[in-house]
Amino acid sequence: MPPPSTSAPGVRQTKFRFRCIACGDLSGSASQDFRCAHCGDLLEITYPHWKEAGRTAQNLKSAWTQRRLSQSAIDLSGVWRFRDLLPTLESDDQAITLREGNTPLYELPQCARITGVPRLFGKHQGLNPTGSFKDAGMTVAATFARLAGFRWVACASTGNTSASMAAYAARGSMRSLVLVPEGKISWSKLSQALDYGAVTCQLRTDFDGCLRLLQELVLRAPVYQLNSINPFRLEGQKTLALELLEQLDWQPPDHIIVPGGNLGNSSAIGKALLEMHALGLISRLPKLSVIQAEGANALVRTVREAAGKRLISVQAETRATAIRIGNPASWEKAVHVLEATGGACEQVTEVEIAQAKAEIGAEGIGCEPASAVTLAGLKKLVKQGFVKPEETVVLVLTGNLLKDPDFTMEFHRGDLFRGTADENASAALNPLRRPPIVLDATLDAVIRTLEQAEK
Ligand code: F0G
Repeated sequence: MPPPSTSAPGVRQTKFRFRCIACGDLSGSASQDFRCAHCGDLLEITYPHWKEAGRTAQNLKSAWTQRRLSQSAIDLSGVWRFRDLLPTLESDDQAITLREGNTPLYELPQCARITGVPRLFGKHQGLNPTGSFKDAGMTVAATFARLAGFRWVACASTGNTSASMAAYAARGSMRSLVLVPEGKISWSKLSQALDYGAVTCQLRTDFDGCLRLLQELVLRAPVYQLNSINPFRLEGQKTLALELLEQLDWQPPDHIIVPGGNLGNSSAIGKALLEMHALGLISRLPKLSVIQAEGANALVRTVREAAGKRLISVQAETRATAIRIGNPASWEKAVHVLEATGGACEQVTEVEIAQAKAEIGAEGIGCEPASAVTLAGLKKLVKQGFVKPEETVVLVLTGNLLKDPDFTMEFHRGDLFRGTADENASAALNPLRRPPIVLDATLDAVIRTLEQAEK
């Protein structure tokens, strides 16, 4: 039996098309690997009939506000509330939703002082149902997987995608297959996949090796791939930007700064900004900048050394394991949004990441290491004069602090850089460390500790 396709009955094809990002070929259906049938490049979803729909920016904004009063599951989702800019469902109850999105936009006063940028915000995607931004994309892609009749969904992951996919598959009564690099993802993320019932394979390779294998697997077995190569994922992740702009009363910030790994999220946010601009929802484009770990800097090198024309892959190594990716699938989409919005691409060191993470934690917010590259990157962009003190800046905090407790514990205990080349440089971070203190259970001991901490 041939595997079902995304053009199967139940998926309304009239409202959107797949478009190849390289040759522009338009199609009503996509193959299992979500690659262009003509040139093999990535696909994106496009909406040829938006203009004819005759909706004004004002209509859209008031529909989205109105839905906030509704108690229906689809309206309670911070993703599907914006469904006018997503692939259409036949009926509202088709959506597999965990009430994703609806994430807070926090002011970051301490980080603002540190960076010298008073109007600094963090959009905390780590407060999604499974603790990362992946849920926004997964609700849409899992929904379309089920509509297309798939029983199995699969992904390669550095941890967050697999946690999210496993949850949405379970909610949608589908089975899920997870491919993760052995020993290179955090236990928290792995444990989520297990608890949500995924078949979890720890492969003796890195993320890039897992993704390569998955791409071959989907051509051989009837499994639906839920990596960000899947353009439905990016449509869902677009809503991060819609919700952000709504929270800012549609006044665009000057800068949005996002971590870069496989480069799906930056591509999705950029696509949303360009669509919002084209639809008149915003009057100007924020600059979208992408920050990578120095040890996983494929996009930085691609932009600097090849002018964004060909991918320069790297052998990735970073303790920010979520972005330990050397061969990012969506690099062309990311280069496009950098160019279209005038954003920058920077890299930060392991020590800079650890420092920024502790600084965000000290705001009472916290995030995982990969998210902290945004603050570390902002410091650099301010130094370079690319970000001006009077500008408004939003950092996208992609994952929850609890996603990687080992990193946090090692940092505070002073073990994170022990025996590495960064050991000396990391001594400067000692004032940020708050190691746990083991004491006798006496009042005196606790009072002495309190007095010590006051000094
Ligand atoms: N931040 C976190 C916390 C992530 O988990 C990821 C990616 C990124 C940033 C980078 O986003 O890949 O869209 O550029 N995690 C993927 C995963 C690869 O498998 O969980 P990207």
